[in-house]
Amino acid sequence: MPWWFFKHGGGSEAEPTESEPAPGEGRLLSSLPGERGHAAEFSQFSLQSLPKDLREIDRLDLQHYALRVVLQANYLAPVGLPRRILDTGCGTGQWAYDLCQEFPQATVVGLDIEPIKQTTNLPSNFRFVRANLLDGLPFANDSFDFVHQRLLALSLPVTCWPVLVKDLARVTAPGGWVELIEGSAEVAPAGPATQEVFSLIGQYLLARGLDGQGNVARSLVRYLEEAGLSAIQQRTVAVPVGEWGGPIGHLIALDFRETFLALSERVAQRFQLPTEALVALLQSMRRECNDLHTCYSFIVAYGQKR
Ligand SMILES: C[S@@+](CC[C@H](N)C(=O)[O-])C[C@H]1O[C@@H](n2cnc3c(N)ncnc32)[C@H](O)[C@@H]1O
Repeated sequence: MPWWFFKHGGGSEAEPTESEPAPGEGRLLSSLPGERGHAAEFSQFSLQSLPKDLREIDRLDLQHYALRVVLQANYLAPVGLPRRILDTGCGTGQWAYDLCQEFPQATVVGLDIEPIKQTTNLPSNFRFVRANLLDGLPFANDSFDFVHQRLLALSLPVTCWPVLVKDLARVTAPGGWVELIEGSAEVAPAGPATQEVFSLIGQYLLARGLDGQGNVARSLVRYLEEAGLSAIQQRTVAVPVGEWGGPIGHLIALDFRETFLALSERVAQRFQLPTEALVALLQSMRRECNDLHTCYSFIVAYGQKR
C-alpha cells in the first residue's frame, strides 16, 4: 500500500467534511450514480492539501529520481517520438521537465490542481495547466501522443478511477499511449511493526474513501481495457526499503519516514494513540526493514489507443 505517496500537508490540515463542493468540483465523480456524497467529500479533501512547501517538493523529487533509477527510464511504453505529451497530477513537474529534455521537439503539458515548484529555467517546451482532474480534462479528444499519470491513487477517490482513465484515453490520439504507475499493497517480508504501520495508515485512508489496499494498482490493466485501449502490458517493479538496499533503499525509507511523520498526528488522533507510540513504531519498522530486507512493489501498466 503506497501510503507515502499520498499528497500530505502538515499536522494542521483539516479533516475532510461532508460540506458541498465549490461549483465545478467533482464533475467526474458526480457522473457516477450514487457517488455524489463522495464527490463533495473528496473534492474538499483534494483542495485542502497544503501548497507544495519545500519539504514536500524535496520528497516528490526524491521519489521521482528513485523511480527513474529503478525503472531505468522515465516510462516503459514504446512511445516512439511523441510530439504532444501530457502528465496529469504532475506534482513538482520534474517528470515533465525530463521529458522536455528527452523530446525537445515535443510540447509537454503538466496538469495539477496545485502550482508546480518555482524554477528559473523552465523548459521552453513545457506548459502548465492548473485544473482539477475530477472536473474532466480541459482538452479536446485525441490531443496527445503520450499521456502519463503517476502516484495519484492516494489523492483521488477509488470510485473515480474507471471514469478518469476513460478520460485519459479520450484525450489520447489514435496510435498514442497511456501509462499509469501506482504503488501496490505489497510490502514483504514485513515484520510486526511494518504490518501495524501499514494497517493503521490503510484504515485511515479507507475511512476517507482512498485506496489503502493497493486496489487501484491491481486494477490498472482493467481500467485500461475498459477505456478501450489495446496492446496492454503490465510490469511489477520491486524496490528495496531501507539502507540495506543502497542509495535507492535509503531514499525510499526516507520517503516512508517523512510521510508517516507528517501523518502521525492525524492517525494518532483517529486511533486515539499517543503520537510518540507511532513515532516509536516507525523506528521499529525502520529496523525491521533493514533486518528483513523488505521490498515494496510498484505496478506500471500501459496501453495504446487504436
Ligand atoms: C503524490 S503526488 C505525485 C506527483 C507526480 N505525479 C510524481 O510522480 O512525482 C500527487 C499529485 O497529484 C495532484 N493532485 C491531487 N488531486 C488532484 C486533482 N483532483 N486534480 C489534479 N491534480 C491532483 C497533487 O497536487 C500532487 O501534485
